Amino acid sequence: MSISKTAAALAAALVLGFGGAALAADKVPAGPGLGKEAPADLVAKWSISILPDGTGLPAGKGDSRAGATIYVRTCLGCHGTNGSGGTGGRLTGGIGSLTSDNPIKTVNSYWPYATTIFDYIRRAMPITAPQSLTDDEVYALVAYILSVDGIVKITDPLDKDTLPKIQMPNRNGFVSFWPAAPKGF
Ligand code: HEC
Repeated sequence: MSISKTAAALAAALVLGFGGAALAADKVPAGPGLGKEAPADLVAKWSISILPDGTGLPAGKGDSRAGATIYVRTCLGCHGTNGSGGTGGRLTGGIGSLTSDNPIKTVNSYWPYATTIFDYIRRAMPITAPQSLTDDEVYALVAYILSVDGIVKITDPLDKDTLPKIQMPNRNGFVSFWPAAPKGF
């Protein structure tokens, strides 16, 4: 047998042998026995994603006035007066600037969904103590940031029903390339 024929036969034998063993479920080794199955309550604790349509939003509520107090105490140091900017970046203003020569991308001018603000703040802010805020505090902070640009009134409480209904200024500034690119791209 030539070398190449031997190699091919060996490869075929390996595939058959390995494939046969892999298909028999009762022959799959148990594994090294490391770790343990995560209980449902632990999985739920890590499962905090909010979808654009508001799926996953928790109970609770808050308005801009409550948010302003929390903002001054917890956020202002890094995001400036009324979210005008600092080491953490600018959160407010810039609406209508995106198509100009000097686009200012902020939460209020750029983000397409208000629900994402809730997800982001609850998950990651303040950056020094992520996930330390209550759900009421996060609703209040979202209301405060939006109210700076008049997207919600300072008296409007936000909750899981009202937050997804907010139309962000740049909601239609994004185009979807899935399942296909729109005409012209
Ligand atoms: C110690 C500084 C610090 C504090 C305090 C802080 N942030 Fe931030 N924040 C940051 C930094 C830094 C980023 C940018 C993180 C990145 O891009 O990965 C950020 C990003 C954000 C963003 C996303 C902005 C964008 O356009 O991507 C939001 C919203 C936000 N912070 C809200 C808050 C709120 C609300 C508070 C108060 C509860 C807060 N932050 C407190 C530092 C801070």
